[in-house]
Amino acid sequence: MPRRKKTAEPEIKIKSIKTPQTVRGMKDILPVNQKYWDFMRDHIKSIAEDYSYKRIETPILENLQLFTHTLGKQTDIVEKEMFSFIDKSGEKLVLRPENTAPVARAYIEHGMFNQPQPVKLFYFGPMFRHERPQSGRQREFHQVGFEILGDASPAIDAEIILIANNFLKEMGIEITVQINSIGDLESRAAYRKALQEYYKNKKASLCADCKKRLTKNTLRLLDCKNVKCVNLKENAPQTVDYLTESSRDHFFRTLEYLDELQIAYNLNPFLVRGLDYYNNTVFELWEKDDETGKTALGGGGRYDYLVEMLGGRETPACGFALGLERVIATLRDKKIDLPKKKIPDVFLAQIGEQARKKAMAFFEQLRKSDLKVAANFSKQKLKSQLDLANKMGVKIVLILGQREIVDETILMRDMDSGIQEVINFKKVIPEIKKTLGKK
Ligand code: HAM
Repeated sequence: MPRRKKTAEPEIKIKSIKTPQTVRGMKDILPVNQKYWDFMRDHIKSIAEDYSYKRIETPILENLQLFTHTLGKQTDIVEKEMFSFIDKSGEKLVLRPENTAPVARAYIEHGMFNQPQPVKLFYFGPMFRHERPQSGRQREFHQVGFEILGDASPAIDAEIILIANNFLKEMGIEITVQINSIGDLESRAAYRKALQEYYKNKKASLCADCKKRLTKNTLRLLDCKNVKCVNLKENAPQTVDYLTESSRDHFFRTLEYLDELQIAYNLNPFLVRGLDYYNNTVFELWEKDDETGKTALGGGGRYDYLVEMLGGRETPACGFALGLERVIATLRDKKIDLPKKKIPDVFLAQIGEQARKKAMAFFEQLRKSDLKVAANFSKQKLKSQLDLANKMGVKIVLILGQREIVDETILMRDMDSGIQEVINFKKVIPEIKKTLGKK
């Protein structure tokens, strides 16, 4: 950038501050990493199209009560991780920590129960949780999620697990599907009682958090990663032994579907998931070498009561979400190659001010004629433009200079052979298409 010239005039001072940094736990996604995000977007779109899910975008800001009422008052998210505040008009708002409750809200608000059921939706966007930032844990992170509302069949649980499984496997990530059933409300009440009984005389050995969980959020005792608590849970009662007949039937039928689809799963009796809206099937996707699920790539399950909890009618539902930063980190760790990006058809180079003007207008013409075109109008030397074209792997470079402008021609250079041809300006587009074998 050109420096401001020093003149005899009194200098105009710019008031500068110490450069503000990103907020703790939030990250810029720089151009150099966008290839991963472009790939994610393409992959999400293609999976959503294959399984007929429609995109929904909900606002990042929601009313606080949407989450306090549905995720559970004693969950980590509600107790300590929400970015919540009161706005200028006194509304209690929150940056969404997850997107299943917002999707259920939107389903009710827009009368989607009047559409043919089930309604199949997917989303992709940022979520916010005020967690302690560490590897695999950010305060702003991105999720892709798939949700089906309005169908109680175990086939739906299986479809959701199939999509989650395929999403990761088709990128080359090896995973294990961890699955459990936490049952319906009745099963859960019986199981909670059994757990409290089991831990009653072990309270002194629990970590401080679990001591509190014992009465407030008993199921979460099983989720604790503290070594003391991990050892204690080994002989704890298991959810499957407390399932009502209908919950047991739902679970076994879901597993039968998974067997038929040849999806390998691990029955994990201690998987309970951290949010209150779940019932029956719960599952997580762990990277193959992750033995504890500390940085699960994704998770989900059934949430048959959520829509009703938000004032809607009875609507069985099921879904999952993946954490995209964790998926991308896995792709990088495992050195999984991304599919190659499409190489531009032509590179448009220019020499001199006049040619640059003409080239900028011609660039638009090329774009509109269905050619993928690249250029860099801030480079002036031909060599650096040719180097760039080479780096991109472009086969045809068009060169526009002073002389070509006068003659109304353009130089077409084949980058492999180095052969250059002079072409009449009006015939360039058909000539390129002919060379590329395009109609
Ligand atoms: P969740 O398990 O809380 O579920 O989050 C899903 C995924 O988001 C996690 O497995 C993880 O990959 C990612 N994630 C969560 N917190 C963070 C964080 N602080 N930093 C980076 N990644 C994170 C849900 O959110 C449910 N709404 C999923 C669902 C959809 N259930 C039914 N439908």
